[in-house]
Amino acid sequence: MVSSRDIERAVAALRAGALVAFPTETVYGLGADASNPAAVRRIFETKGRPATHPVIVHLADAAELAAWAREVPPAAHLLARKFWPGPLTLILARAAAVSDVVTGGQDTVALRVPSHPVARQLLARFGGGIAAPSANRHGRVSATTAAHVRDEFGDAVEYVLDGGQTDVGIESTIVDLSGPLATLLRPGSITAGEIEQALGASLALPSGDAPRAPGTLAAHYAPRTPLLLMEADLALELAASLARQGKRVAVLALSAQQPVTPGITWIAAPREPASYAHALYASLRRLDEAGCESILVERPPQGPEWAAVNDRLARAATGSSARG
Ligand code: TXA
Ligand code: MG
Repeated sequence: MVSSRDIERAVAALRAGALVAFPTETVYGLGADASNPAAVRRIFETKGRPATHPVIVHLADAAELAAWAREVPPAAHLLARKFWPGPLTLILARAAAVSDVVTGGQDTVALRVPSHPVARQLLARFGGGIAAPSANRHGRVSATTAAHVRDEFGDAVEYVLDGGQTDVGIESTIVDLSGPLATLLRPGSITAGEIEQALGASLALPSGDAPRAPGTLAAHYAPRTPLLLMEADLALELAASLARQGKRVAVLALSAQQPVTPGITWIAAPREPASYAHALYASLRRLDEAGCESILVERPPQGPEWAAVNDRLARAATGSSARG
Protein backbone atom coordinates (compact mmCIF):
# COMPACT_ATOMS: atom_id res chain seq x y z
CA MET A 1 0.00 0.00 0.00
CA VAL A 2 0.98 3.64 -0.27
CA SER A 3 2.73 5.53 2.55
CA SER A 4 3.07 9.29 2.88
CA ARG A 5 6.73 8.87 1.94
CA ASP A 6 5.66 7.23 -1.32
CA ILE A 7 3.38 10.21 -1.97
CA GLU A 8 6.23 12.66 -1.28
CA ARG A 9 8.50 10.79 -3.67
CA ALA A 10 5.80 10.74 -6.34
CA VAL A 11 5.26 14.48 -5.90
CA ALA A 12 9.00 15.08 -6.27
CA ALA A 13 9.01 12.95 -9.44
CA LEU A 14 6.10 14.95 -10.89
CA ARG A 15 7.85 18.23 -10.06
CA ALA A 16 10.98 16.95 -11.81
CA GLY A 17 8.96 16.29 -14.96
CA ALA A 18 8.86 12.49 -14.57
CA LEU A 19 5.87 10.19 -15.06
CA VAL A 20 3.97 8.74 -12.11
CA ALA A 21 1.37 6.01 -12.53
CA PHE A 22 -1.32 6.21 -9.87
CA PRO A 23 -4.62 4.54 -9.01
CA THR A 24 -7.93 6.28 -9.52
CA GLU A 25 -11.32 4.77 -8.67
CA THR A 26 -11.80 3.90 -12.37
CA VAL A 27 -8.46 2.66 -13.79
CA TYR A 28 -4.79 3.53 -13.23
CA GLY A 29 -3.61 6.79 -14.77
CA LEU A 30 -0.22 7.61 -16.26
CA GLY A 31 0.39 11.04 -14.78
CA ALA A 32 2.55 14.07 -15.49
CA ASP A 33 2.57 17.69 -14.33
CA ALA A 34 -0.17 19.18 -16.53
CA SER A 35 1.58 22.57 -16.53
CA ASN A 36 4.83 21.08 -17.89
CA PRO A 37 4.44 20.43 -21.66
CA ALA A 38 7.69 18.43 -21.88
CA ALA A 39 6.46 16.11 -19.13
CA VAL A 40 3.06 15.68 -20.80
CA ARG A 41 4.80 14.93 -24.10
CA ARG A 42 6.57 12.10 -22.32
CA ILE A 43 3.17 10.51 -21.63
CA PHE A 44 2.42 10.42 -25.35
CA GLU A 45 5.81 8.90 -26.17
CA THR A 46 5.46 6.28 -23.46
CA LYS A 47 1.92 5.27 -24.45
CA GLY A 48 2.55 5.43 -28.17
CA ARG A 49 -0.42 7.76 -28.34
CA PRO A 50 -0.95 10.13 -31.29
CA ALA A 51 -0.12 13.72 -30.25
CA THR A 52 -3.50 15.08 -31.32
CA HIS A 53 -5.36 13.03 -28.70
CA PRO A 54 -6.08 15.17 -25.63
CA VAL A 55 -5.59 13.99 -22.03
CA ILE A 56 -7.66 14.49 -18.88
CA VAL A 57 -6.38 16.92 -16.24
CA HIS A 58 -7.00 15.60 -12.72
CA LEU A 59 -7.64 18.15 -9.98
CA ALA A 60 -7.74 17.96 -6.19
CA ASP A 61 -10.90 19.96 -5.92
CA ALA A 62 -13.69 21.49 -8.02
CA ALA A 63 -12.57 24.91 -6.77
CA GLU A 64 -9.63 24.58 -9.19
CA LEU A 65 -11.93 24.45 -12.23
CA ALA A 66 -11.60 28.18 -12.76
CA ALA A 67 -7.83 27.90 -13.27
CA TRP A 68 -8.27 25.43 -16.14
CA ALA A 69 -11.56 26.45 -17.80
CA ARG A 70 -12.22 29.96 -19.06
CA GLU A 71 -15.91 29.49 -18.48
CA VAL A 72 -17.58 27.25 -15.93
CA PRO A 73 -21.24 26.95 -16.91
CA PRO A 74 -23.93 26.29 -14.26
CA ALA A 75 -24.28 22.71 -15.53
CA ALA A 76 -20.61 22.09 -14.65
CA HIS A 77 -21.15 23.34 -11.09
CA LEU A 78 -24.23 21.15 -10.82
CA LEU A 79 -22.49 17.98 -12.01
CA ALA A 80 -19.33 18.72 -10.00
CA ARG A 81 -21.34 19.14 -6.82
CA LYS A 82 -23.29 15.96 -7.44
CA PHE A 83 -20.59 13.59 -8.75
CA TRP A 84 -17.15 14.88 -7.65
CA PRO A 85 -14.97 13.54 -6.35
CA GLY A 86 -15.88 10.63 -8.62
CA PRO A 87 -15.77 8.92 -12.02
CA LEU A 88 -16.98 11.82 -14.16
CA THR A 89 -14.95 13.90 -16.64
CA LEU A 90 -16.21 17.28 -17.86
CA ILE A 91 -15.15 18.90 -21.13
CA LEU A 92 -15.08 22.69 -20.83
CA ALA A 93 -13.72 25.64 -22.82
CA ARG A 94 -10.06 25.78 -21.88
CA ALA A 95 -8.32 28.60 -20.06
CA ALA A 96 -5.66 30.39 -22.13
CA ALA A 97 -2.80 29.01 -20.03
CA VAL A 98 -3.61 25.34 -20.71
CA SER A 99 -0.97 23.80 -22.96
CA ASP A 100 -1.79 22.57 -26.48
CA VAL A 101 -0.05 19.32 -25.57
CA VAL A 102 -2.77 18.68 -22.97
CA THR A 103 -5.70 19.62 -25.20
CA GLY A 104 -4.40 18.14 -28.43
CA GLY A 105 -4.65 21.66 -29.85
CA GLN A 106 -8.39 21.86 -29.18
CA ASP A 107 -10.15 24.78 -27.57
CA THR A 108 -11.48 22.54 -24.81
CA VAL A 109 -10.00 20.74 -21.81
CA ALA A 110 -11.07 17.55 -19.99
CA LEU A 111 -11.21 17.90 -16.19
CA ARG A 112 -11.92 15.45 -13.42
CA VAL A 113 -11.67 15.26 -9.63
CA PRO A 114 -11.06 11.58 -8.79
CA SER A 115 -12.19 9.98 -5.52
CA HIS A 116 -9.50 7.33 -4.96
CA PRO A 117 -7.74 8.21 -1.67
CA VAL A 118 -4.26 7.78 -3.20
CA ALA A 119 -5.12 10.04 -6.15
CA ARG A 120 -6.61 12.58 -3.76
CA GLN A 121 -3.52 12.60 -1.54
CA LEU A 122 -1.23 12.87 -4.53
CA LEU A 123 -3.22 15.77 -5.99
CA ALA A 124 -3.51 17.56 -2.67
CA ARG A 125 0.24 17.30 -2.01
CA PHE A 126 1.20 18.14 -5.59
CA GLY A 127 -1.03 21.19 -5.58
CA GLY A 128 -1.49 21.39 -9.35
CA GLY A 129 -3.24 19.57 -12.18
CA ILE A 130 -2.05 16.07 -13.14
CA ALA A 131 -2.52 15.18 -16.80
CA ALA A 132 -3.23 11.46 -17.01
CA PRO A 133 -4.62 9.15 -19.61
CA SER A 134 -5.28 5.53 -18.69
CA ALA A 135 -2.00 3.72 -17.95
CA ASN A 136 -1.97 1.36 -20.93
CA ARG A 137 -0.36 1.37 -24.34
CA HIS A 138 -2.50 3.13 -26.93
CA GLY A 139 -5.57 1.12 -27.96
CA ARG A 140 -5.05 -1.63 -25.41
CA VAL A 141 -6.85 -2.80 -22.29
CA SER A 142 -6.68 -0.28 -19.40
CA ALA A 143 -4.83 -1.21 -16.19
CA THR A 144 -6.80 -1.89 -13.02
CA THR A 145 -3.84 -2.98 -10.87
CA ALA A 146 -0.28 -1.71 -10.41
CA ALA A 147 0.97 -5.04 -11.80
CA HIS A 148 -0.98 -4.39 -15.03
CA VAL A 149 0.76 -1.00 -15.30
CA ARG A 150 4.16 -2.67 -15.00
CA ASP A 151 3.11 -5.33 -17.55
CA GLU A 152 2.27 -2.51 -19.96
CA PHE A 153 5.33 -0.32 -19.49
CA GLY A 154 8.08 -2.17 -17.65
CA ASP A 155 10.82 0.30 -16.70
CA ALA A 156 9.53 3.03 -19.00
CA VAL A 157 7.48 4.44 -16.13
CA GLU A 158 9.67 5.71 -13.30
CA TYR A 159 7.17 5.55 -10.49
CA VAL A 160 4.06 3.43 -9.86
CA LEU A 161 1.91 4.05 -6.79
CA ASP A 162 0.27 0.75 -5.87
CA GLY A 163 -3.21 1.38 -4.51
CA GLY A 164 -4.51 -2.14 -5.11
CA GLN A 165 -7.21 -3.09 -7.60
CA THR A 166 -9.35 -0.19 -8.73
CA ASP A 167 -12.96 -0.14 -7.66
CA VAL A 168 -15.01 0.86 -10.73
CA GLY A 169 -12.81 -0.94 -13.26
CA ILE A 170 -13.77 1.02 -16.41
CA GLU A 171 -12.97 4.62 -17.39
CA SER A 172 -14.95 7.66 -16.28
CA THR A 173 -18.13 8.91 -17.89
CA ILE A 174 -17.28 11.90 -20.15
CA VAL A 175 -19.76 14.75 -20.60
CA ASP A 176 -19.00 17.64 -22.95
CA LEU A 177 -20.32 20.94 -21.60
CA SER A 178 -18.36 23.17 -23.99
CA GLY A 179 -21.17 23.54 -26.50
CA PRO A 180 -24.84 24.52 -26.37
CA LEU A 181 -25.97 20.94 -25.57
CA ALA A 182 -24.57 18.68 -22.84
CA THR A 183 -23.24 15.68 -24.77
CA LEU A 184 -22.29 12.20 -23.59
CA LEU A 185 -18.89 11.39 -25.14
CA ARG A 186 -18.15 8.18 -23.23
CA PRO A 187 -20.55 6.11 -21.11
CA GLY A 188 -19.30 5.03 -17.69
CA SER A 189 -20.43 3.84 -14.28
CA ILE A 190 -22.29 7.11 -13.76
CA THR A 191 -25.09 6.49 -16.24
CA ALA A 192 -26.58 8.86 -18.83
CA GLY A 193 -29.81 8.68 -16.83
CA GLU A 194 -28.11 9.87 -13.65
CA ILE A 195 -26.50 12.80 -15.49
CA GLU A 196 -29.81 13.73 -17.12
CA GLN A 197 -31.56 13.59 -13.77
CA ALA A 198 -28.95 15.87 -12.20
CA LEU A 199 -29.13 18.31 -15.12
CA GLY A 200 -32.89 18.16 -15.52
CA ALA A 201 -32.21 17.94 -19.26
CA SER A 202 -31.51 15.29 -21.89
CA LEU A 203 -27.98 14.51 -23.04
CA ALA A 204 -27.17 14.81 -26.72
CA LEU A 205 -25.19 12.11 -28.50
CA PRO A 206 -21.97 13.14 -30.24
CA SER A 207 -22.28 14.52 -33.75
CA GLY A 208 -19.58 14.20 -36.40
CA ASP A 209 -17.93 17.45 -35.36
CA ALA A 210 -17.81 16.66 -31.63
CA PRO A 211 -14.32 16.93 -30.13
CA ARG A 212 -12.00 14.01 -30.68
CA ALA A 213 -12.06 11.37 -27.98
CA PRO A 214 -9.84 8.35 -28.70
CA GLY A 215 -11.62 6.41 -25.95
CA THR A 216 -14.54 6.70 -28.33
CA LEU A 217 -12.65 5.36 -31.36
CA ALA A 218 -14.32 2.25 -32.75
CA ALA A 219 -11.18 0.20 -32.02
CA HIS A 220 -9.94 0.51 -28.43
CA TYR A 221 -9.60 -1.38 -25.15
CA ALA A 222 -8.51 -4.42 -27.12
CA PRO A 223 -6.72 -7.63 -26.14
CA ARG A 224 -4.22 -9.16 -28.58
CA THR A 225 -6.31 -12.27 -29.09
CA PRO A 226 -9.25 -11.80 -31.50
CA LEU A 227 -12.38 -11.15 -29.41
CA LEU A 228 -15.85 -12.07 -30.61
CA LEU A 229 -19.12 -11.02 -28.97
CA MET A 230 -22.01 -13.46 -29.20
CA GLU A 231 -25.07 -14.92 -27.50
CA ALA A 232 -24.59 -17.61 -24.83
CA ASP A 233 -25.74 -20.61 -26.89
CA LEU A 234 -23.53 -19.73 -29.83
CA ALA A 235 -20.50 -19.15 -27.52
CA LEU A 236 -21.04 -22.58 -25.97
CA GLU A 237 -21.45 -24.30 -29.31
CA LEU A 238 -18.45 -22.59 -30.90
CA ALA A 239 -16.19 -23.11 -27.86
CA ALA A 240 -17.03 -26.81 -27.70
CA SER A 241 -16.52 -27.27 -31.42
CA LEU A 242 -13.17 -25.42 -31.46
CA ALA A 243 -12.00 -27.37 -28.41
CA ARG A 244 -12.96 -30.68 -30.09
CA GLN A 245 -10.77 -29.67 -33.05
CA GLY A 246 -7.90 -29.28 -30.59
CA LYS A 247 -7.92 -25.48 -30.72
CA ARG A 248 -7.45 -23.36 -27.64
CA VAL A 249 -10.38 -21.11 -26.94
CA ALA A 250 -11.26 -18.71 -24.12
CA VAL A 251 -14.74 -17.76 -22.96
CA LEU A 252 -15.93 -14.84 -20.85
CA ALA A 253 -19.32 -16.20 -19.82
CA LEU A 254 -22.22 -14.48 -18.11
CA SER A 255 -25.16 -16.91 -17.97
CA ALA A 256 -23.62 -19.85 -19.83
CA GLN A 257 -22.54 -22.83 -17.72
CA GLN A 258 -19.05 -24.19 -18.33
CA PRO A 259 -19.27 -27.27 -20.57
CA VAL A 260 -17.44 -30.47 -19.61
CA THR A 261 -15.41 -30.29 -22.85
CA PRO A 262 -11.73 -29.98 -21.82
CA GLY A 263 -9.43 -27.33 -23.32
CA ILE A 264 -11.59 -24.27 -22.76
CA THR A 265 -10.23 -21.40 -20.67
CA TRP A 266 -13.34 -20.21 -18.89
CA ILE A 267 -14.17 -17.18 -16.77
CA ALA A 268 -17.66 -16.77 -15.34
CA ALA A 269 -18.21 -13.00 -15.14
CA PRO A 270 -20.25 -11.45 -12.30
CA ARG A 271 -23.95 -11.12 -13.18
CA GLU A 272 -24.36 -7.59 -11.89
CA PRO A 273 -23.16 -4.69 -14.16
CA ALA A 274 -20.96 -2.84 -11.61
CA SER A 275 -19.22 -6.07 -10.57
CA TYR A 276 -18.88 -7.08 -14.22
CA ALA A 277 -17.17 -3.75 -14.99
CA HIS A 278 -14.93 -4.05 -11.93
CA ALA A 279 -13.58 -7.41 -13.14
CA LEU A 280 -13.72 -6.84 -16.91
CA TYR A 281 -10.19 -5.68 -17.81
CA ALA A 282 -8.46 -8.11 -15.45
CA SER A 283 -10.51 -10.93 -17.01
CA LEU A 284 -9.64 -9.82 -20.55
CA ARG A 285 -5.95 -9.74 -19.60
CA ARG A 286 -6.13 -13.25 -18.12
CA LEU A 287 -7.94 -14.64 -21.16
CA ASP A 288 -5.47 -12.85 -23.46
CA GLU A 289 -2.54 -14.44 -21.62
CA ALA A 290 -4.02 -17.93 -22.02
CA GLY A 291 -2.69 -17.89 -25.60
CA CYS A 292 -5.94 -18.94 -27.26
CA GLU A 293 -7.00 -18.51 -30.88
CA SER A 294 -9.98 -16.48 -29.86
CA ILE A 295 -11.83 -15.04 -26.90
CA LEU A 296 -15.59 -15.57 -27.08
CA VAL A 297 -17.51 -13.07 -24.95
CA GLU A 298 -21.12 -13.74 -24.06
CA ARG A 299 -23.01 -10.58 -24.95
CA PRO A 300 -24.41 -8.87 -21.82
CA PRO A 301 -28.01 -7.60 -21.72
CA GLN A 302 -28.82 -4.33 -23.50
CA GLY A 303 -30.28 -2.26 -20.60
CA PRO A 304 -28.92 1.22 -19.71
CA GLU A 305 -27.06 -0.13 -16.66
CA TRP A 306 -25.00 -2.26 -19.10
CA ALA A 307 -24.31 0.60 -21.57
CA ALA A 308 -20.73 1.32 -20.42
CA VAL A 309 -19.74 -2.36 -20.39
CA ASN A 310 -21.30 -2.95 -23.83
CA ASP A 311 -19.48 0.12 -25.16
CA ARG A 312 -16.08 -1.23 -24.02
CA LEU A 313 -16.79 -4.77 -25.28
CA ALA A 314 -17.84 -3.53 -28.72
CA ARG A 315 -14.64 -1.48 -29.04
CA ALA A 316 -12.52 -4.36 -27.78
CA ALA A 317 -14.09 -6.63 -30.45
CA THR A 318 -13.46 -4.05 -33.17
CA GLY A 319 -9.94 -3.35 -31.92
CA SER A 320 -8.93 -7.00 -31.89
CA SER A 321 -10.41 -7.69 -35.34
CA ALA A 322 -8.78 -4.55 -36.76
CA ARG A 323 -5.44 -6.15 -35.95
CA GLY A 324 -6.60 -9.55 -37.15
O1 TXA B 1 -11.35 7.18 -15.80
C1 TXA B 1 -10.68 7.86 -16.57
O2 TXA B 1 -11.15 8.78 -17.25
C2 TXA B 1 -9.17 7.53 -16.67
C3 TXA B 1 -8.54 7.87 -15.34
C4 TXA B 1 -7.06 7.67 -15.35
O3 TXA B 1 -8.87 9.18 -14.98
N1 TXA B 1 -8.57 8.25 -17.74
C5 TXA B 1 -8.79 7.98 -19.04
O4 TXA B 1 -8.01 8.74 -19.88
O5 TXA B 1 -9.58 7.13 -19.41
P1 TXA B 1 -7.87 8.43 -21.44
O6 TXA B 1 -6.91 9.42 -21.96
O7 TXA B 1 -7.55 7.01 -21.64
O8 TXA B 1 -9.27 8.78 -21.98
C6 TXA B 1 -9.68 10.11 -21.85
C7 TXA B 1 -10.62 10.44 -22.93
C8 TXA B 1 -10.00 10.27 -24.28
O9 TXA B 1 -10.93 9.59 -25.11
C9 TXA B 1 -9.75 11.71 -24.70
O10 TXA B 1 -9.73 11.90 -26.06
C10 TXA B 1 -10.91 12.41 -24.07
O11 TXA B 1 -10.97 11.83 -22.81
N2 TXA B 1 -10.64 13.82 -24.00
C11 TXA B 1 -9.65 14.43 -23.36
N3 TXA B 1 -9.68 15.76 -23.58
C12 TXA B 1 -10.73 15.97 -24.39
C13 TXA B 1 -11.28 17.12 -25.00
N4 TXA B 1 -10.77 18.32 -24.82
N5 TXA B 1 -12.36 16.95 -25.78
C14 TXA B 1 -12.89 15.73 -25.97
N6 TXA B 1 -12.41 14.60 -25.43
C15 TXA B 1 -11.35 14.72 -24.66
MG1 MG C 1 -7.54 5.15 -22.37
